[in-house]
Amino acid sequence: MKDLVSASLLGCDLADLKNEIKSIESAGADWLHCDVMDGVFVNNISFGTPVLKCVRKAASVPMDTHLMITDPIRYIDDYANLGSDNITFHLEAASNPQAVIDKIHSHGISAGISIKPGTPVSAVKPYLGSVDMVLVMTVEPGFGGQKFVADTLEKISEIRYILDSMGRTEVNIEVDGGVNGETVKLCREAGANVFVSGSYIFGAEDRAAAVDSLK
Ligand code: DX5
Ligand code: ZN
Repeated sequence: MKDLVSASLLGCDLADLKNEIKSIESAGADWLHCDVMDGVFVNNISFGTPVLKCVRKAASVPMDTHLMITDPIRYIDDYANLGSDNITFHLEAASNPQAVIDKIHSHGISAGISIKPGTPVSAVKPYLGSVDMVLVMTVEPGFGGQKFVADTLEKISEIRYILDSMGRTEVNIEVDGGVNGETVKLCREAGANVFVSGSYIFGAEDRAAAVDSLK
């Protein structure tokens, strides 16, 4: 399984989106992580389809869309049609998570399921047979620049153990929130292989060095 860095757009200068995308791509980011927030599932509103349509045109790396919205099934078609390569939704936000996974798969793209720090592994277990990625939030979703919650590491190990025992070694485990040159090691040791980073890489003087340090 490949180790990947997914740069979170939320950490960039949103008034200079095209240049920020180019900058982070040339710094070596593998994916572009796009945080969609609705002000209901989380206490913040970020951006939605009009912005991400433009982002898709400006970016050449895969688009990793993270939906922090209630009732995500309503919006899967929109975010798939604009060119997402992966769509991750929150288990806590969906009344029928399997239906959301199936809807994402009907577009022929990767499906991710995410859990907040307080959600136990047992809640996500029924879906480990069908998802392509599990996003373990390492902060409360809603804002960039928060401190890494170390209690989440145990959940990463547990999910990796379950996936391995199911023979699903190809499934990605992504971590998101407070990932930097130090916490990335803990996540990697626990079994994560996709590392989202916003403030750490966009705030760095040398972005290529920051991406390198994660890799
Ligand atoms: C938080 C978002 C993250 C956020 C990460 O809810 O899902 O993707 O941008 O930002 P940092 O890396 O600054 O914690
Ligand atoms: Zn995110």
